[in-house]
Amino acid sequence: MATRVRDLPRVSDRGALGSLGNSTAERLDFQREIARASAPLVRGRLLHLPVVFPARPEACHEVLVSKAKSFEKSPGLRVLLHDLAGNGLFTSEGELWRRQRKLMAPLFTPASLGGYAEVMRRAAQRAAERMRPGQQVDIAAETTRIAMTVVGDALFGADTFDEADTLGSALTTALGWVNESLASPAIAAHILLLDATGDLARRTRGTLKTWLERAHHALESPFLVKGSKSRELRAAMAVLDERIQGMIEDRRREGLSRPDLLTRLLAARDADEGGSMTDKQVRDEVVTLFVAGHETTATSLAWALYLLAREPAVRERVVAEAHAFADSSLESYDPDKLELTTRVFREALRLYPPVMIFPRRTLEEVEIAGTRLPPRTIVFVSAYAQHRRADVYEAPERFEPDRFLPERDAARPKGAYLPFSAGPRSCIGMSFAMMEGPIVLATLLSRLRFEIDPALRVVEDDFATLRPKGGVPAIVWPRSYSASQLP
Ligand code: HEM
Repeated sequence: MATRVRDLPRVSDRGALGSLGNSTAERLDFQREIARASAPLVRGRLLHLPVVFPARPEACHEVLVSKAKSFEKSPGLRVLLHDLAGNGLFTSEGELWRRQRKLMAPLFTPASLGGYAEVMRRAAQRAAERMRPGQQVDIAAETTRIAMTVVGDALFGADTFDEADTLGSALTTALGWVNESLASPAIAAHILLLDATGDLARRTRGTLKTWLERAHHALESPFLVKGSKSRELRAAMAVLDERIQGMIEDRRREGLSRPDLLTRLLAARDADEGGSMTDKQVRDEVVTLFVAGHETTATSLAWALYLLAREPAVRERVVAEAHAFADSSLESYDPDKLELTTRVFREALRLYPPVMIFPRRTLEEVEIAGTRLPPRTIVFVSAYAQHRRADVYEAPERFEPDRFLPERDAARPKGAYLPFSAGPRSCIGMSFAMMEGPIVLATLLSRLRFEIDPALRVVEDDFATLRPKGGVPAIVWPRSYSASQLP
């Protein structure tokens, strides 16, 4: 007979919020506790609500892949991103999401992304040229600039996007608001209210039902943006809308002839029904891709460079690969040329998954790993916890790219490696990121040497993504620099 949620083993409470904790350190501590659990599922608390955490890889696989139909994403992110990313792929659900995913998937296959390899290399080359010998840099700030240039260039073309121009700064302002709001108690309260009105509307009838449905709908957009939030944010949104609409119109006028992703989104047709996207939908997708596509990659690049700076033996082998790669043509990108660099990037994603937790909610009663979850149960899948399981990854805290040698990789259970999640809602940009990460790493390392203080221990900060707290301070030297040239 199936177990009930209340019979599951409990994870410890960490203060008023419940199991998740109030600080990054508490949140990571709680995920390490899940990593140690031997039961397939454990139970915790978020404020007053019971929450279920799949602890074993097979249970994660069931939630994300084999029983994905019984789950939706939690409404929290939808509220936060409502005004910025609207009904883009990350936040939409149901039929709209299915149609959009089908329309957009062909744009993100390795074969159709080949042309962007040069964009990725160029952005890293320009960054390397900008840095002066002996300059003190923050590696995380540099990788953010590179990743923003890459995604901006891929979406709009090199001539259109510049992080310093109006479009780049409007996006940065809007993202800053989302990041700040993630930690805001007002938003947490808002999300709970959204949830409560939806729940009550389902259970009532007549005028009260209509009233609750209206309130629920109004709450889907965060009132902070509509109401008291600064003029600066609303001005940024207006710039975004105007610039993107202008670019859409330009591309239509030119007959959709450019190679950028915006043009390809406008040209995308449903294979069965032949329909295309409305301009508003294209706008939402463009902003979604920009938001989802740059901070994640930037964060993982920063961690990879930090890990390599502390591990000279691996670094020297990566540099040798990077030198050989630097001279190769990118007409058709061959990932085998960056075999070790790719493993390093994957190991950085294991230790520091930028999106460390995926919130879900059951749409119906479903049985996971022998436990019956009632409808509307909140489930958190933690990539961070999976990546630190000692029964899957020997000495899980150690940086060891050889874990991703093909035979060891193939021996790992499904659901144990989740940097891009898995199943239907997994990252559509995975192939893009798995090209960008190694290409940018190799290009930077073929030209530069990052010197970090050997005593420096960077810790995590789970602010939007799992970032290096306080950045990664380093002194940068051209790789070809000889001692006689040092100042
Ligand atoms: C190292 C870099 C990246 C990481 C670690 C990452 C991680 C993820 C994860 C974990 C999800 C699923 C979240 C969930 O299930 O709740 C996701 C979804 C998504 N990602 Fe990424 N991502 C990365 C890069 C990118 C790039 C480069 C793009 C686009 C150019 C992108 C676009 C998206 C989109 C649109 C979704 C929503 C997909 C859907 O729901 O159908 N990501 N990403």
